Amino acid sequence: MAISNRVSAYLSTSSAIRRMFEEGLALKARFGADAVCDFSIGNPDVPPPAAFRRILREEAAVEEPQVHGYMPNAGHLFVRDAIARRINALQGTDLDSRHVVVTCGAGGALNVALKALVNPGDEVLACTPSFLEYRFYCENHGASFVTVPGRPDFDLDVDALAAAISERTAAVIVNSPNNPSGRIYPESTLRNLGRMLQARSSAVGRTVYLLGDEPYRDITYGDRVPSLFAVYPHTVVCTSWSKTLSLPGERIGFLAVHREAEDSARLLEACALCNRILGFVNAPALMQRVIARLQDEAVDVEVYRRRRDAMTAILDAAGYAYAAPQGTFYLFVRSPLVNDVDFVDRLKDERILTVPGSAFGWPGWFRIAYCTDEAVIARSADGFEKAMRKAAGA
Ligand SMILES: Cc1ncc(COP(=O)(O)O)c(C=O)c1O
Repeated sequence: MAISNRVSAYLSTSSAIRRMFEEGLALKARFGADAVCDFSIGNPDVPPPAAFRRILREEAAVEEPQVHGYMPNAGHLFVRDAIARRINALQGTDLDSRHVVVTCGAGGALNVALKALVNPGDEVLACTPSFLEYRFYCENHGASFVTVPGRPDFDLDVDALAAAISERTAAVIVNSPNNPSGRIYPESTLRNLGRMLQARSSAVGRTVYLLGDEPYRDITYGDRVPSLFAVYPHTVVCTSWSKTLSLPGERIGFLAVHREAEDSARLLEACALCNRILGFVNAPALMQRVIARLQDEAVDVEVYRRRRDAMTAILDAAGYAYAAPQGTFYLFVRSPLVNDVDFVDRLKDERILTVPGSAFGWPGWFRIAYCTDEAVIARSADGFEKAMRKAAGA
């Protein structure tokens, strides 16, 4: 077999989601895209702000020599400078261009940070429910991804994380607002997390880094997202404009390292090198220049708020329980059947596509991605109601 053992194993273990995705495509081919309510993928359909197109055109017209050429692996200096200034303005930090590496999306940033930080055999921790891809990202660099359950209200369980930290722990990943729960971790929890990481790092004799994953920071419904930089010095925040500006296909994001992180200068040097040796080399040149001029822009969150309200009204009417999202465009819903995979199948019978909570390490729940047209949301009401009624009778 030509395919590596590890990737062969991934292909079979990730088959549930792949199957759902493929069945969704088959359903659309059979009944027409309009007959299927696809809430499976977090691919934002709200258009980027109008300024994006204008600035993209202007930047595409620039004809300076080397405008599309290689650059420092960390990205253009003026772009990093613009990013650092915005973080400082919003999060009260004291960063400059040296603390920022521009990356190919948040996924690229996480891979760069992990490659720079972990040794084979290390562990990286997170609370569930958590984003599917972290395990792959950690294993790319020889580390294991270890999860502990979050609290029933979807807050972090700091005590459970503390108990899981050992001399093998390289980092803890914190994703807020959270995919899939939509939870913003409160400041008190994060302060507690910072204190715990200091104490446990001393106890195990190694600095445990805090890796923030924040692509949804700007998609919130009134609550503030507290800064991780304020709670712990050994912090690297990874993020992107995939959701903030609806640009997931453009692969543009960054990582920022706390000024006082242990070995911060060397860590930043390492991250720039890892951007290169992972084959990214640098984030796309044209997009760097565009986003440098869009620092204060974001998609219209009111659109997501309307969709969230429309979706929760449908769920309320049908009798579903769910976690009210404070941010993101996901709704995490309790499955009326114990087996969430079975219930997701039942929804598929109603031509509604969702993702089982087991895929996020949180069985018994399922995720709705409401970054989809309001007409699709309205159309799904009957199917959600029928699936609930059938499950209640089951
Ligand atoms: C929690 C989380 N982290 C990271 C990513 C990856 O983002 P990007 O497309 O910028 O790599 C996603 C994408 O859906 C996500 O939901």
